[in-house]
Amino acid sequence: MNKIKNIGVLTSGGDSPGMNAAIRAVVRGSLYYKLEVTGILRGYDGLINADFISMDGKSVANIIQRGGTILKTARCDEFRTKEGRAKAYQNLVDHKIDALVVIGGDGTFTGADIFSKEYDIPVVGLPGTIDNDLEGTDLTIGYDTAINTVVNAVDKIRDTAESHDRLFIVEVMGRDSGLIALRSGIGVGAEAILIPEAKTSVDELITRLHHGRKDKASKIIVVAEGDEAGGAYKVGEVLKEEFPSYDIRISVLGHIQRGGKPSCMDRVLASRLGVAAVEGLLEGKTGVMAGQINREIVFTPFFKAIKHIDAAQITPAWLRLAEILSL
Ligand code: F6P
Repeated sequence: MNKIKNIGVLTSGGDSPGMNAAIRAVVRGSLYYKLEVTGILRGYDGLINADFISMDGKSVANIIQRGGTILKTARCDEFRTKEGRAKAYQNLVDHKIDALVVIGGDGTFTGADIFSKEYDIPVVGLPGTIDNDLEGTDLTIGYDTAINTVVNAVDKIRDTAESHDRLFIVEVMGRDSGLIALRSGIGVGAEAILIPEAKTSVDELITRLHHGRKDKASKIIVVAEGDEAGGAYKVGEVLKEEFPSYDIRISVLGHIQRGGKPSCMDRVLASRLGVAAVEGLLEGKTGVMAGQINREIVFTPFFKAIKHIDAAQITPAWLRLAEILSL
């Protein structure tokens, strides 16, 4: 027997394209099952400060195509404390919210994991992050859009690099994960890709550049923000010393990767997982993230989903592929 009557929904951590589509699916999915829905503003901050709004079918109209999150988002230190979580729980009790859907990445799920074990409130998560660094889903909501944003930007950089015979070092997001760099690097035909999961040898990169085809007009090196080489500027300094004749430029793409209209893939994934989260709660699930693996909906415990990238996504074979194609 399930007593859920009012589901609270929040977005937390870094925003990602498709979060709005996920909110819409949670709201409409809840209404379908005759449940009330409460929007919680600014993630766990709003939970602690009872910043709540009542949501209906209309409040999520015309948002499926919008980037960002209508519920706003934040990273909240207070939720890391016992006192903060106690306030949050009391607010949920006071407002008769009896289940939660949290949309975010590893920080969001770390908080949700502790909270769902500490208090008797079911919590289901949705993977909303451009980093794709969660186990329990082939793709996270926002990743597809982000890598397409990177590809579009780097294609433009390639045009100017080609015109000027330049080497560009492009830094992409991914503090702890190289998946944006890896996929977009292959997508733009990068000459090299540097990611935190693989031992980065700038020496190796130098050797490759020394032995690379001499008639290449442009060269693109994609570096993940979290790579041990220390980011695009550091790599640029080393290469400038080694190759004084190269015309080197740096481009840090930054937060354009987090904004913009979600791709159709992200909208569909968010829509499907949003409804699955509501249905999961009604079936009694808690402490889990709803994801999609091989087209099937899968629920993975938060502690397993956090910071565990599916090993098959980052293997030497992917880096080798990039190397083969850069000849
Ligand atoms: O987790 C998503 C992400 O975009 C990371 O790739 C990046 O390192 C980080 O957020 C940047 O966060 P902020 O917006 O706080 O600078």
